[in-house]
Amino acid sequence: MAGAVAATAMGAMAAVNVIPLPNKVVEGDGALAFANPGAVAAAVTEADDASIPAEGYRLTVSDAGIRIAAADAAGRFYARQTLRQLTTPDGKGVSVPFVTIEDAPRFKWRGLHFDDCRHFFGKETLKKTLDAMAYHKLNVLHWHLTEDQGWRIEIKKYPELTVKGAVRPGSPKPKVLVRPGEPSERGWVNNHIPYGPYFYTQDDVREIVAYAAERHITIVPEIELPGHALAALAAYPELGCTGETFEPWWRWGVSEHIFCGGSDRTIRFLEDVLDEVCALFPSSIVHIGGDEAPKKMWKQCPKCQARIKALGLDGEEGLQGWMTRHFTEYLAKKGRRTIGWDEVLDGNPGTGTVIMSWRGPQGGIQAAARGHDVVMCPIDPCYIDNPQGLKDDPYEYINYGFNATLERCYGFDPAAGIPEGQHSHVLGGQGNNWSEYTWSGSEYEWKMWPRMSALAECLWTDRANKSWASFRARIPAVRTALIRQFRMNAAPIE
Ligand code: ACM
Ligand code: ZN
Repeated sequence: MAGAVAATAMGAMAAVNVIPLPNKVVEGDGALAFANPGAVAAAVTEADDASIPAEGYRLTVSDAGIRIAAADAAGRFYARQTLRQLTTPDGKGVSVPFVTIEDAPRFKWRGLHFDDCRHFFGKETLKKTLDAMAYHKLNVLHWHLTEDQGWRIEIKKYPELTVKGAVRPGSPKPKVLVRPGEPSERGWVNNHIPYGPYFYTQDDVREIVAYAAERHITIVPEIELPGHALAALAAYPELGCTGETFEPWWRWGVSEHIFCGGSDRTIRFLEDVLDEVCALFPSSIVHIGGDEAPKKMWKQCPKCQARIKALGLDGEEGLQGWMTRHFTEYLAKKGRRTIGWDEVLDGNPGTGTVIMSWRGPQGGIQAAARGHDVVMCPIDPCYIDNPQGLKDDPYEYINYGFNATLERCYGFDPAAGIPEGQHSHVLGGQGNNWSEYTWSGSEYEWKMWPRMSALAECLWTDRANKSWASFRARIPAVRTALIRQFRMNAAPIE
């Protein structure tokens, strides 16, 4: 127990102040005192224990010292995150309470969706976010890299993507909150301030992927197809149905110009892009979008209609289904699975495609019943671009007509509505931080934290062990740590 001394009698111990709450905690009576957090980390003895579940760990703090056991590196890492949260200032040094914790996650996919397209946040915000995610045992960063408003990843074979596709001719002015029922265009004004070029080079991507891997976080890249493609069409107009020239969109919404599903050239382009993406991202799952793909252009396009006829597809939805299956098979040959937003279910993809349920839980419920694995992120409450319901909030939000308060986020259960026998299909869930109404990294952080702390507990802690009252008591200290240790901007707790 080098460096540790038995602390003075602690009396009744405070509840273990850790988020996400570990699944089994036995508190002891006493604590170890150290000069600083580095001395705590150095005092740990680690052991392998193959009987502990994946990502799980046992952590024992007693007068015999600090012991960690785990079956894998992720478990050892998470034990250290718990230890870090248990370490609190105490007089001149820090102390760690006596405790025995046996812990393992409820879900495998504990994610955050990061939209770098509508606004671009860059490596520093990403790295801070990855640090804070690791602190919360979140393990998937779903990186939204391509959109109508910007293409944010360098692709060597198609350099125009980040020349023409990474800069848009303006943005809607701030403070253009769209209220439910209003046409989205109303009141939108172009500020005519060019936005960009903003993108990540392949070296940047490798740096971020490595930074995440050191923290046991997988980065799942998303290349949107066939919709949300206008920035790519701005770079290469021949990839669309009409060949018209475009600029990336200055305003938010859904462009009706999408990738042409009938063009072999477009299919080859997407394969080439996915080749480079697979070379950069070791993730076993690649996101191919699939949401909000209006079929107006496909209905009028001779190439799209010819493919529908030649393959006997069920109209334009069938064509999107064919694309989903095509890229699922293409990626499978590279050893990767695909994931798509819940609209891809309409095209009857094979069960190899993982479904990300966003329009509500129904897509995920249906998908699990049909044998798909699912990741749940229903708008309510997982879209953390929704207002937080704070008394006084300086920032603007999208408006889906409800407040995604901290407590509402805490109520999330990814398995809700899915029969017990299908629970193995629920990989987990995530919070989605879209960035249309978020103009800077610090605003983006304010929307993430502490609501991601609540979602992290929903994804890690067994349902029976969750309690809003307990979380509400623990969150202030974790929020303070986010601000002090990670330099996060975090919303207040009301
Ligand atoms: C989505 O929010 N369009 C997936
Ligand atoms: Zn077409």
